[in-house]
Amino acid sequence: MKNILKNLSFLSIISLVLISFSVSCHREKPKWRIGVAQCSDDEWRSQMNEEIRREMLFHDDATVEIRCANDSSERQIADIDYFIDNRFDIIVVAPNEAEALTPAVRKAYSKGIPVIIFDRAVNDSSYTTYIELDNAGVGRNAAIYAARILRQSGGEVMEITGSPGSSPAEERHNGFMSVLDSIGDIPIAGSFHGNWRGKTAYRITDSVMRLNPDIKLIYAHNDVMAMSAARAAKDLGRNDVVVIGTDGAPGLGVKAVADSVIDATFIYPTVGDRVITAAIDILNGRSYPRVDHIPSTDFIDHTNAEFHIRQNELLRKKTNQIEEINSKYTFTKSLNAQQNIFLIACMAVALLLGAGVAGLLYFLRQKNRLQKELLEKNNRLTEWGERQAALYSRLEEATHEKLVFFTNVSHDLLTPLVLIAEPIDMLAAENGISDSARSLLLMMKRNVGILKRMIEQILDFRKYQNGKTTLNFQEANPESLVEDWARLFTNTAARKNIKYELDIRDSGLTMAVDIEKLERIFFNLISNAFKYTPPRGTVRVVCSMDQFHFRLTVTDTGRGMSQNELERIFERYYRINGAGAKGVGIGLALTKAFVELMAGEIKVESMPDKGSSFTVTIPVRHIDTLSESPVNNGVSYRTEIDLTDESSQETGLRLPVADISPVSDSEKPLMLVIDDNEDIRSLVRMICEEEYDVIEAADGKEGIRKAVKYVPDIIVCDIMMPEMDGLEATRRIKEERATSHIPVLILTASRLDEQRVKSYDSGADGYISKPFTEEMLKARSRNLIANRKRIFDLFLEGGCDKPGKQKKDGEKESPLSIDNDFYRDFLTIVRANISDENLSVKEIASRLGIGPTQLTRKIKSLTGTTAVEIIRELRLREGRNLLITTDRPIADIAFSLGFSSPQYFARCFREKYDKTPTELRASVR
Ligand code: FRU
Repeated sequence: MKNILKNLSFLSIISLVLISFSVSCHREKPKWRIGVAQCSDDEWRSQMNEEIRREMLFHDDATVEIRCANDSSERQIADIDYFIDNRFDIIVVAPNEAEALTPAVRKAYSKGIPVIIFDRAVNDSSYTTYIELDNAGVGRNAAIYAARILRQSGGEVMEITGSPGSSPAEERHNGFMSVLDSIGDIPIAGSFHGNWRGKTAYRITDSVMRLNPDIKLIYAHNDVMAMSAARAAKDLGRNDVVVIGTDGAPGLGVKAVADSVIDATFIYPTVGDRVITAAIDILNGRSYPRVDHIPSTDFIDHTNAEFHIRQNELLRKKTNQIEEINSKYTFTKSLNAQQNIFLIACMAVALLLGAGVAGLLYFLRQKNRLQKELLEKNNRLTEWGERQAALYSRLEEATHEKLVFFTNVSHDLLTPLVLIAEPIDMLAAENGISDSARSLLLMMKRNVGILKRMIEQILDFRKYQNGKTTLNFQEANPESLVEDWARLFTNTAARKNIKYELDIRDSGLTMAVDIEKLERIFFNLISNAFKYTPPRGTVRVVCSMDQFHFRLTVTDTGRGMSQNELERIFERYYRINGAGAKGVGIGLALTKAFVELMAGEIKVESMPDKGSSFTVTIPVRHIDTLSESPVNNGVSYRTEIDLTDESSQETGLRLPVADISPVSDSEKPLMLVIDDNEDIRSLVRMICEEEYDVIEAADGKEGIRKAVKYVPDIIVCDIMMPEMDGLEATRRIKEERATSHIPVLILTASRLDEQRVKSYDSGADGYISKPFTEEMLKARSRNLIANRKRIFDLFLEGGCDKPGKQKKDGEKESPLSIDNDFYRDFLTIVRANISDENLSVKEIASRLGIGPTQLTRKIKSLTGTTAVEIIRELRLREGRNLLITTDRPIADIAFSLGFSSPQYFARCFREKYDKTPTELRASVR
């Protein structure tokens, strides 16, 4: 394309040059400019100017400009200056007055401009050529003619001359007089200056002839004056006067003769052609006589006037024809030139078009070819892409199906697994079994554990792949966690004959940590270390923490890894060749994912046959600042109240939990188990019945009924159930005033966070994934009850009697706020009736809209104490307040607070504050 454009540009330039050249060739620029300065514009000069133009037709190489001074010398000088200033090549002058015009002519000539003088003379010879007309001869011929007439008729002759300053007038006069003088007998009436003008001639004639009636002949220096003189004579009644003129211009003098206005005219030759040929010769450097004398002998009278007119008409016709031909020629020539230009332009355009078309064709061909190639390529690519896409989609579909199938199978495997694992534990704990049976049971337990971990890892990774991993942060000391977990491997180390070193510093610092994920990380690293380390090798755990980072290093002296293996170690499903280890190979990939989810990094150093060292570094953040610094894009995190996790039980590890104290020493807490699976209900009952009174419900609806009826201390509820699922049941339980305080532990078969999120959304207080262990379930339940109590301790401290936070429109009331409101209402009723010694639970319950049993259980669950005790507590607090801030008598205070007697008030007061009311008042005064 570039080349084509380049070629087109080149062709354009060539064409333009050609066009310019042809134009310059055909538009012939005239070489010469001829300036003609005429002194007057009478008929004779019109004739002459016509001749000049006619002659110019033969000279393409020159142009002419004729200026007329109208008998003004001054104006003629200006015309000459004009020609000089405009650099005319030659100037032709018929000087109006010799004396006046001589300097102007000299000026032009001195500037190197050729000057041709004609018709009238100048006073010096500063000119190139003088075309001299025979004025004296004209005068002489006129005198001869006059003499011949007057000899016959007798009478006198009168002369009317041109301007006195002009050479023709002088020369003609001289010639005329010279002849008359020589004849001697012709009487001369006088010579009078007519100044070439008809009017002047008329006046002179009129006046002279009035004075001199003998005048029989008038000679005028031009036809204009002759005709006027003739009219004057005629006007005087003198038809006998012969009038002769000069010039013989066909349109004027000759016609006047033919019309018998005058009698004769002497031809003063117009020399237009001669002037131009002289100018062209001079301009072309050809020799031309310095003085070109033109003789003049002809005259016209009535005998040849008509002939002369006809001749002249003929000449004019011819001239017109020539002019016509010439104009046609000029037109044709210019047309031709234009045609030539057009032709050349057409050729150039054609050439350009040709080149353009050729270029375009070439370009189109190229483009088509490229397009075709591109199209083919595209088609091939599209086909390939489509095949790939179809393949990919089939693959994705197949993979997805496989994964869904695998995930579902994994889920399904978990429930029976727990039902296998728990009985094994229980059997192993039996006293009466033999050692061999016990070891078999332990082997079964170990393998069930392995199977569970495998399934869990697959499910965890699937969850991670789906972007559904949620971080559940809580503030904890990771060093002590690691220490607890690490110690559990002491036996493994001993059994495998591996040296096990722990270097764990306890800085006492805490950080926000997802304990489950950290445990998984640690478990994977330590498991690998033991897996790949041979007997007599060493496994070392180093753990430290400062205010910025938590670091965990697990080192082994195992087979190590090559560089190639190192690069792929975190790829999922990658397992070191020949390691002989079991597993699905996603442990390290999952470890890395968990580390990164916590904004940390994992590094590995390894040498073949020397061992490996994995170091995990996690930045220290705290639970209260987490929202300001989210750790991972797209990963949500949540803090949890309960601190235990099912995974800890699966791995045999115990997580640190809050100090757990029983709700009541006197009676067991009540647990409601809602699950449609009878086995699960039985399992929960078996696990928990030692600690709890367990009641059961087979679906959500029955669960709600029992919850409202019995107001249990804790509810364990499955998610998937007929009639009403666990989430809906939980939601309703949490909305019910009588049951909103009850902690609900959701049982889920799915490890997907989505279900966990849903659990929390429903108002559940915790979740527990199937399979679960005895310890896990017990710990979770205890924790929930304890946390519940802890929250309401806070309530009791002061939050309770403040109005609940205003909830926004559409915002659902949280169970906590329901309980807060419930408790606030309870306190309000108590306070309003604090002086009523008969204030009963029944009375309060009816005002709160629930039954007395429900009130009693709910207050007990919320506060760990009874409604009666709370009423007494409030009365005592108020009493203390009144004792300190008022001077009211103690008995008055006691009665106003509903105590039956001041003594009973004093006893209760001392039990609580270790002082009697009197002692307290004395101490603050
Ligand atoms: C015109 C004219 C002629 C005459 C000539 C002499 O201007 O007057 O009639 O013959 O000039 O120069």
